[in-house]
Formats: sequence, C-alpha cells, structure tokens
Amino acid sequence: MKIVVVANFDSMSAEVAKMVCAQIQRKPNSVLGLATGSTPLGVYELLVEYHARGADFSKLTTFNLDEYVGLARDHPQSYHWYMQENLFSKVNIDPRRTFIPNGLAEDLEAECQRYEGLIKQAGGIDLQLLGIGTNGHIGFNEPGTGFGSITHVVDLAESTIRDNSRFFESIEEVPKQAISMGIKTIMQAKEIILMASGGSKADAIYATVHGPVTTAVPASVLQLHPAVTLVVDQAAASRL
Ligand code: PGA
Repeated sequence: MKIVVVANFDSMSAEVAKMVCAQIQRKPNSVLGLATGSTPLGVYELLVEYHARGADFSKLTTFNLDEYVGLARDHPQSYHWYMQENLFSKVNIDPRRTFIPNGLAEDLEAECQRYEGLIKQAGGIDLQLLGIGTNGHIGFNEPGTGFGSITHVVDLAESTIRDNSRFFESIEEVPKQAISMGIKTIMQAKEIILMASGGSKADAIYATVHGPVTTAVPASVLQLHPAVTLVVDQAAASRL
C-alpha cells in the first residue's frame, strides 16, 4: 500500500485529479470506478477544469460504486443526480458509457447481477476511486460484509445513516438500503485510490493501514491488493 500524505482537502483533490488524468492520458478508453460523497467533490471540480483545458473524456467508461434504493434519478440526493451535477454534465463523457446501479429497479437482485455483468463486459475496472466511511466502509460495504461479496443490496449501518443525514432534510429521509459493488468487485479493480480528508476519518485510516485484515473494517482488505494508493490529508493521517 502506497501512502501519500498531503496538507489538506485541496491538495488531496489535486493529487488524485492528477492521477486520474494521467490514467486517462495513458489509456483514453479507461474504465474508471467512481465514488460519491463529500470526499471526491474537489477531484471532480478539477477534472472539469482539466476538461476545459483540453482533456478528452469521450472514450471513458465509468461505473459508480453505489446508489441508494428508492431514490429517483432526479432526486437531489441520488448518486445519479450527484454525478450529473458534479461531473457528467460538465465534461464530454458519453452518457451511454456511464453506469450507476438502478436503485429503483423492480427486481433489485437482478439489477445487482446485471451491474456486475456490465463491469465484466467492459473488461473490468482499471482505476477505482474510493472514499471511506467513519466505520471503515468502502462503497456501501458496511462492517461485516464478506470479502467474497459482489454487487449486492445492503442495509445501511446506523452510523452511515447518521453520517449521511447531513445531506437530507431529516434523518428519516435517508434511505435504509443501497445497491453497492461488493468487496470482491472492488478488489478486482486493477488499481485503487482511496481518499480521506479530516479528523473524523483518522481512526478508520489507522485501522485500514495498521489494523488486522478483518471484515469488521472493510477497507482493511485493501492491504491485500497489489496496487493501492492512499491519498490522505494530515488530519486523516494523524494516527498513522
Ligand atoms: P464522505 O463519505 O466522502 O461523504 O465522507 C465517504 C464514504 O462514506 O465512503
């Protein structure tokens, strides 16, 4: 595991955006795994700037990690909406090659299988971006999720519902379930970048790097991946 400690959120975003751009330059038809939440917002802003200065996203394929169950695509807290707002509508990405699980599918299990199949058909993910939950989750793979899991329906942990309630009018409005790539899906990515910013992530980052590899801290599985880079700011790295 390579660990890059940077000063703050902005330098974390700059570092990761640079790595993503290098990947796109190296392989214009890369398959990127994308994350949502507060952490990658600065990365997406910078990718939009790179695009304005000529970076070409037209040959990319993207797969998002997860989506809430039950939110319409145009719900402002859905990850479909988030990706449109923060990246897809601002770069020349081909909408036919941007994939996000459908949290409104009638048959959620079938949707999970379809999504996993789409990733395989695309040849797998070249570079996966990850945030981390305060409880160590990656995607919406909460503590206890098996390392063999593929795309699945998850019941969100109480701590995740609490953490994410800041984006909703009230905690009752936070969906209780999501569709998420599984741990195995994530581990099959050729390369992974995990980002973290802020002191609230310091315990989870410590456990990811120094803790035992355990399903109690899903991100600890990354110790077993051959090409992981952690880009963490000083606050998130404060216990390392
Ligand atoms: P955050 O979420 O980026 O909003 O902190 C990260 C995560 O839960 O994976």
